[in-house]
Amino acid sequence: MSSGLGAVPLAPGYVPLLGHTAAMLRDRPGFLASPGQGDLVRLRFGPQTMVLVRDPDLVQQVLRDDRTFDKGGPFFDRAREVVGDGLATCPHERHRRQRRLCQPAFRPGRLPDYTEAVTAAAREETAAWNDGDVIDVARVMPALASRALARTMFSSRLPAHTTRQINEDIATLLGSVIRRMLTPAPFDRAPTPGHLRYERARRRLRQTVSGVVAGRRADGTDDPDLLSALLSAADPETGGDGPVSLTDEEVADQLITFFIAGTETTAGLMSWMLYELARHPGIQEHLHAHTAGVLRGRPPRAADLPALSYAEQVVDEALRLHSPVWLFTRTVTTETRLGGVRLPAGTAIAISPYTVHWNPDLHPRPREFDPGRWKTPRTDRGAHVPFGAGPRRCIGDRFAVQETVAVLSVLISSWRFTPVTERPVKVALSASYGPRTLRLRVHARGPGHVGGPE
Ligand code: HEM
Repeated sequence: MSSGLGAVPLAPGYVPLLGHTAAMLRDRPGFLASPGQGDLVRLRFGPQTMVLVRDPDLVQQVLRDDRTFDKGGPFFDRAREVVGDGLATCPHERHRRQRRLCQPAFRPGRLPDYTEAVTAAAREETAAWNDGDVIDVARVMPALASRALARTMFSSRLPAHTTRQINEDIATLLGSVIRRMLTPAPFDRAPTPGHLRYERARRRLRQTVSGVVAGRRADGTDDPDLLSALLSAADPETGGDGPVSLTDEEVADQLITFFIAGTETTAGLMSWMLYELARHPGIQEHLHAHTAGVLRGRPPRAADLPALSYAEQVVDEALRLHSPVWLFTRTVTTETRLGGVRLPAGTAIAISPYTVHWNPDLHPRPREFDPGRWKTPRTDRGAHVPFGAGPRRCIGDRFAVQETVAVLSVLISSWRFTPVTERPVKVALSASYGPRTLRLRVHARGPGHVGGPE
């Protein structure tokens, strides 16, 4: 026999009226990973209740059954306002066709073009750095990540002011999402300056991206980029679940989705990685020596990526310790049982990689940065979920890891990073989890380095 929702314990840190909002905003990973609770706990945000799944096996059960645990919940309602019914936000019944149509854009064969775009973006973004400069990495990495993604999506044919405008609009939208997620619906449409900024950014972004799609469709060129891959995608398997190719509106939805899903997350990952390397000079020097041994002074190419294995270990460890996606939600579509608890239809479910990644049974000394733990790849896939799991797993997972390995290799070949303060880093209040400011000193590594000052 199973018990109902009432038997699920309330997470610690509950305050009447506010619920868990304050506890969570104080320290999101610490709150979500806090030990001594059950497999499932209840979270309250104002009038909203969510069930946080903490047990790694139950996390897999939820993520692998996207029919029973479909996309939904407050985060997705907000995200849908921006990206329409794109791949990340569409419900289960519209997902399979879209996934089949988008997948070819991410197949490994396209990687050489993307690696070149990413490496060029990293070299451009760091070209003005000088030996001894103090750089706010948390400001540079979003610019680098969106420059890299813009080049990957549109080759280099987008005018600089259009890329800048897209970046600004995305930053505005992501900055608003968490506040909107925690604001009850009737209040979020009040004509406050914040809401008006959000609406302006939302409309302008769609207009810009739709214009780019229409322009490419009209001139018909086949550039080696993600946009061409999406425009030419055709799905031979389509079984009546929609047209065999993506409409222009769907292509715009996907591009906005990729920008939203892929910029801030990757930038957060890159920032955390440099934060940890600056605090662990031994690891940083080992990474430099390993990278130099593979690249011998030239920029990384796609063919080098498998040999840059230590850089990939560093990326995996940063993804574990500082998962940029800190929470995602699902909604129960039909009454079901999870861990012996009966969940009625409509129950909101929350998953956080931190409950898994900071679990000492799965990762001993969980708060220590130790890339060595990834020397042998893990076979228990449930232990590492920075990209989710199951049918809705991140479509950009390999791209994101390889992009980050390429950027890291460019940076570490030319620069050494040291901290300028011992003070704890402040975290941005945004949809993903990344530093708000992170000032590091950069030291040029001398002649023969990649992409630094000539
Ligand atoms: C470090 C970087 C990234 C992290 C940590 C990350 C994480 C995630 C996670 C956890 C999910 C699953 C969410 C859920 O199940 O509700 C997801 C989905 C998704 N991500 Fe990423 N992501 C990253 C980079 C990217 C990039 C670069 C792109 C595209 C270029 C991208 C596109 C997507 C899309 C389209 C989905 C939805 C997939 C589907 O529902 O079929 N992500 N991502």
